[in-house]
Amino acid sequence: MKKILVVGASGKTGRNIVKQLLELGHSVHLIVRTTNNLSKDILKHQKINITKASILDINEEEMVNLVSDSDAIVSCLGHNLSFKGIFGEPKRLCTDATKNLCEAIRSSKANSPIKFILMSSVGVKNKKIGEQRSIFDNIILTLLRWFLPPHKDNEIALDYLISSFGNSNKHIEWCAVRPDSLIDDKISKFEIIESPITTIFKGRPTSRKNVANFMTQLIGDNTLWSMWKFKTPVIMNEK
Ligand SMILES: NC(=O)c1ccc[n+]([C@@H]2O[C@H](COP(=O)([O-])OP(=O)(O)OC[C@H]3O[C@@H](n4cnc5c(N)ncnc54)[C@H](OP(=O)(O)O)[C@@H]3O)[C@@H](O)[C@H]2O)c1
Repeated sequence: MKKILVVGASGKTGRNIVKQLLELGHSVHLIVRTTNNLSKDILKHQKINITKASILDINEEEMVNLVSDSDAIVSCLGHNLSFKGIFGEPKRLCTDATKNLCEAIRSSKANSPIKFILMSSVGVKNKKIGEQRSIFDNIILTLLRWFLPPHKDNEIALDYLISSFGNSNKHIEWCAVRPDSLIDDKISKFEIIESPITTIFKGRPTSRKNVANFMTQLIGDNTLWSMWKFKTPVIMNEK
């Protein structure tokens, strides 16, 4: 069984991941600002540890302690869907949290690489593999980059992982999971592909439970991890 650190654990996807990891017998450490959204089953679980803090307020030393006790780290952070969440500070929530966690992993100098799984979005391009989109999608994505800070945040977070850790690193192995539009539905069959095949306004929804299920599999299944590490899989519910 593994030890997993989850940030963004109070969110809709984060809560599903925590639940699924516990069901599989893993130990889970959460960093949350508030426990109000967490169920009693999670709060009282004997394999749960909670650090109550805002992720960007955790100092370097504490962060190194937190990551060095983990086999894998999952970030399901996202800007709250309110005016303040979308346009207020911190504008670089996902990027800064990713940087702080990854720099802490680097400093911890673990004997074997720690898995870092980032929840990204299908709207974020993987520049490393020269992903192309239609002219229309590129115009929309450019507008989103200028006018929607959370989109730019997701883009910079992925660029950081690619430019800092590329295709191999002795301390970190990363994977950025890119769901299409998220829905709250049951676990169902889903597809994992290397690059988007849908267009921005004709996407295929992904249930948060499926995203959680795929991330949970990435943590526990080393063959699956070997297929997707240092990559940006797109996840979609099967038709
Ligand atoms: N919505 C979509 O259709 C869609 C599609 C693809 C990808 N995504 C991406 O998926 C990710 C997660 O989605 P979700 O629906 O699971 O998100 P969510 O339910 O809104 O959860 C967001 C999480 O981030 C935390 N958070 C927000 N602002 C914070 C701050 N300033 N400091 C510390 N923590 C903060 C929240 O904590 P609190 O509970 O304390 O607020 C919560 O745990 C997002 O990055 C989003 O970009 C979304």
